[in-house]
Amino acid sequence: MTDPAAQPRRILVTSALPYANGAIHLGHLVEYIQTDIWVRFQKMRSHECYYVCADDAHGTAIMLKAKESGETPETLIERVNTEHRADFERFHISFDNYYSTHSPENRELAEFIYRRLQANGHIATRTVSQLYDPEKGLFLADRYVKGCCPRCTTPDQYGDNCEACGATYSPAELIDPRSVLSGATPVERESEHYFFRLTAFTDFLRRWTRSGHVGEEIANKLSEWLDAGLQDWDISRDAPYFGFEIPDAPGKFFYVWLDAPIGYMASFQNLCSRRGLDFDAFWGRDSTAELYHFIGKDIVNFHALFWPAMLESAGFRTPDRICVHGFLTVDGKKMSKSRGTFISAGTYLDHLDPEYLRYYFAAKLSAGIDDLDLNLDDFAQRVNSDLVGKVVNIASRCARFISDDTGGVLAENIAEPELWQRAVSAAEPIAAHYEAREFGRAMREIMALADAANEYIAARQPWQLIKQPDRAAEVREICSLGINLFRLLMLYLKPVLPDMAVRAEQFLNTELRWNAAAFEPLCNHRIRAFEPLMQRVERKRIDAMLAASAAPPTDTVRPARTAPAAPDTDIIDFAAFARVDLRIARIIAAATVEGSDKLLRLTLELGGETRTVFSGIRASYRPEELEGRLTVMVANLAPRKMRFGVSEGMVLATGDGDDIYLLSPDPGAVPGQRVT
Ligand code: MSP
Ligand code: ZN
Repeated sequence: MTDPAAQPRRILVTSALPYANGAIHLGHLVEYIQTDIWVRFQKMRSHECYYVCADDAHGTAIMLKAKESGETPETLIERVNTEHRADFERFHISFDNYYSTHSPENRELAEFIYRRLQANGHIATRTVSQLYDPEKGLFLADRYVKGCCPRCTTPDQYGDNCEACGATYSPAELIDPRSVLSGATPVERESEHYFFRLTAFTDFLRRWTRSGHVGEEIANKLSEWLDAGLQDWDISRDAPYFGFEIPDAPGKFFYVWLDAPIGYMASFQNLCSRRGLDFDAFWGRDSTAELYHFIGKDIVNFHALFWPAMLESAGFRTPDRICVHGFLTVDGKKMSKSRGTFISAGTYLDHLDPEYLRYYFAAKLSAGIDDLDLNLDDFAQRVNSDLVGKVVNIASRCARFISDDTGGVLAENIAEPELWQRAVSAAEPIAAHYEAREFGRAMREIMALADAANEYIAARQPWQLIKQPDRAAEVREICSLGINLFRLLMLYLKPVLPDMAVRAEQFLNTELRWNAAAFEPLCNHRIRAFEPLMQRVERKRIDAMLAASAAPPTDTVRPARTAPAAPDTDIIDFAAFARVDLRIARIIAAATVEGSDKLLRLTLELGGETRTVFSGIRASYRPEELEGRLTVMVANLAPRKMRFGVSEGMVLATGDGDDIYLLSPDPGAVPGQRVT
């Protein structure tokens, strides 16, 4: 049971490719740490496993960012690539290859796949009319156009939907539209676009998404999209664009999301040529290797619809599994620059040990897609009590009775075989949890063993026994078992804590390997002097990290956070004000709205009456934290029919473009009361 090498598997694993225009932050690290733990586990179990990734280097955002900082896109992505690699290395993310989508391999593969799609009749062209910035000479994606909402006239709304009333529209419908890039009034312009005929894959995708390639929650979500009807996918962008030009289509470039997943292949191809591996054995139609993509839930459509359809058409195998995780919140809220909780990998590392975070994420991760909260008090408490208080404690308590008094050699036999056996038998359940990406469960099993080991030592009290000269042999046996248990715990924790495992190997004078020998106790074995294995987390270091995150980054100039200018308003008399019926309301329920990432559906109680209100505050609030809270609402606003239902009023909030702040009365206010 402990010899996994009996059936070695060949496994290729990827994490999503981070954009090359920003630093790695703790949200990203949920994914890279999750994937890395899984990969390290597979490698420890003697499987042939490769982990590849790359920077996602193309697109308008990167082109504009380079222009802004007066460099070429090539130098920008080169510089960011170096930074990303350094951050990942310090977090012990063990890529076999970290590459870039702006690579010769990727250009070649993207062209190759495109030609196959074309040969199969899966590429169509169509004329598209889009807003164009005449000053910058650029077509404008929706997020680069702002104007007044065509329905409620709120100014400064993006080109696709209104944050105030939730309306969705096309950028051409905005009142007084402006280019975010130049301030110019955009004009409508036509151009020819290339489309991937995703619609032709509806039946294929219905089957594919129900064949165990995604978890059930995701499969259900995908069914909704499939039922609503797929649309062909626009895969071209007009020059100027930083990316690969489409073959035989001068001035047209592949949309960044076309060549990004191909970047997984290209990174692996690059590894193959360096290590002499067989690319087709992993990507060919009849490959027997396993293929896993780890991604966040925001990019499921690209990986579970577009990507398998492209691979299918181009004659490659499709992934075995898309492993989807949820999003990181910090202290219960979306990461936010103004709260100092938008923490970059570099800032974290300036203050804290990367393995704290690896352990904390492991303890909280499951195979599901729930969001995961980094609660900073809980973080300190969990790391200190589990790793320092339980695991390290076993070694430090026992080591002094071995190294000082008995020449550093462990006893000949195991004092309590049942306890040892219990730790040995935990191996397979723990391995099964790792395999199933149920890391939280694995950590709980491991900590239960650590508790058992500590209880054993506490009950036997070697520090008391040692005072009786005739019981020295007994002390040595107790502590030898303690150290052997510590060895198994560190073996099980090695995928999570690779660096601490190295220090433990040094102390134990043996390598921690997941093979048959690992489950035989070390007897008559010389260990080395004990050195501290991990420091406690100190709250003041966390606070210093938050303070550093709140400070503006030193390498870019960020505009001062001043309140945006209030729109011009007229002077009104009291009678006009009194016509606005402002009321205290209690939020009795809050829920996300299917199909909108801005809105929450609030159920408000105002003295015996309930109202449903859609409010664009989702970016800053989780539904759970709102329930029970008091706020202020406009109660006599004409009901508005929205795409998601009727909104019967409005709650009051303010925002600074980064965060949204809901107004609330002092305690004591009663729902239904008039606000004057
Ligand atoms: N470039 C695309 C991916 C292309 S893959 C062919 C992209 N990049 S990203 O930098 O925005 O995100 C990279 C990964 O990090 C994604 O899987 C994303 O879901 C994940 N995360 C980014 N922010 C996150 C959190 N706050 N929390 C958890 N994961 C997050 O998307
Ligand atoms: Zn509006």
